[in-house]
Amino acid sequence: MQSEGKVIIITGASDGIGAQLAAQFRRKNARLVLSSRNAAKLQAGAGPDDLVVAGDLTIESVRVSVIEKALKRFGCIDALINNAGRGSYYSPSESPLEEVRSLFELNFFAPFHLAQLATPWLCRSEGTLVNVNSIAGQISLPWLPLYSASKFALASLTSSQRTELRRQGVNVMGVYPGYVDTKFQTHSAGTVPPASVVKGRRFAVTAEQCAAAIVRGMERRSRSVVTPRIGLPLVWLNRLFPRFMESRMERV
Ligand SMILES: NC(=O)c1ccc[n+]([C@@H]2O[C@H](COP(=O)([O-])OP(=O)(O)OC[C@H]3O[C@@H](n4cnc5c(N)ncnc54)[C@H](OP(=O)(O)O)[C@@H]3O)[C@@H](O)[C@H]2O)c1
Repeated sequence: MQSEGKVIIITGASDGIGAQLAAQFRRKNARLVLSSRNAAKLQAGAGPDDLVVAGDLTIESVRVSVIEKALKRFGCIDALINNAGRGSYYSPSESPLEEVRSLFELNFFAPFHLAQLATPWLCRSEGTLVNVNSIAGQISLPWLPLYSASKFALASLTSSQRTELRRQGVNVMGVYPGYVDTKFQTHSAGTVPPASVVKGRRFAVTAEQCAAAIVRGMERRSRSVVTPRIGLPLVWLNRLFPRFMESRMERV
């Protein structure tokens, strides 16, 4: 996909990976639709030609309005990047049910519904659907169990969307980052992460590096992006030797 002139919707564009994606696509002269809750922050980071649609994406009418406003301004949609998401450090035995529901509303139902709304337009333009997932959507992380569950659900959906939409020329790409240096930790719900996990920050990539890997993947119409690359052998180890990986995870 050549980025120049393309209409790209980016959710969670006020901070972290989403803000970096917006900056990098703006430099490539893409036409951007930016969404998240914090209108002032979105506006402060937006370029003069970007369309800002602020709102809570767990609300159905907000999702509808993102797509409608994008079409009203630009008349088409070439790419949807479902990036907004958050973590949860609650354990399965202690997490309030409402917390799990709200987590799934953002990490699963919002990208699911936005993709449904955007699909007719992506099909017309042989466009791109991106679901920003996590290594936690490939390996169950015991310190982020419910977040892992929401991202596993998103990974499964991504595979189904790929087989459904391929015939119509839409490239569906899953993104599986490891540790990315953003405010994700502080924006997560529940208890603090274990110290050994916090130490893992030294292996983190920057939001800028993560966004660059996503942009590259979209331009090459890749199937998936794992960043940093060290995540790839971990995913395979987990598939081939699940007992070994579980014992390593228990130690964390
Ligand atoms: N950082 C990591 O280590 C890491 C690793 C793997 C995967 N990821 C994934 O990468 C994606 C981006 O995370 P990040 O690290 O950039 O986190 P972040 O810095 O916390 O940014 C999250 C973005 O999502 C938006 N958001 C949160 N709740 C929302 C809601 N209800 N409605 C609309 N927008 C909402 C936030 O903006 P507002 O506050 O303005 O709404 C913000 O723009 C997430 O899907 C995350 O799961 C992150």
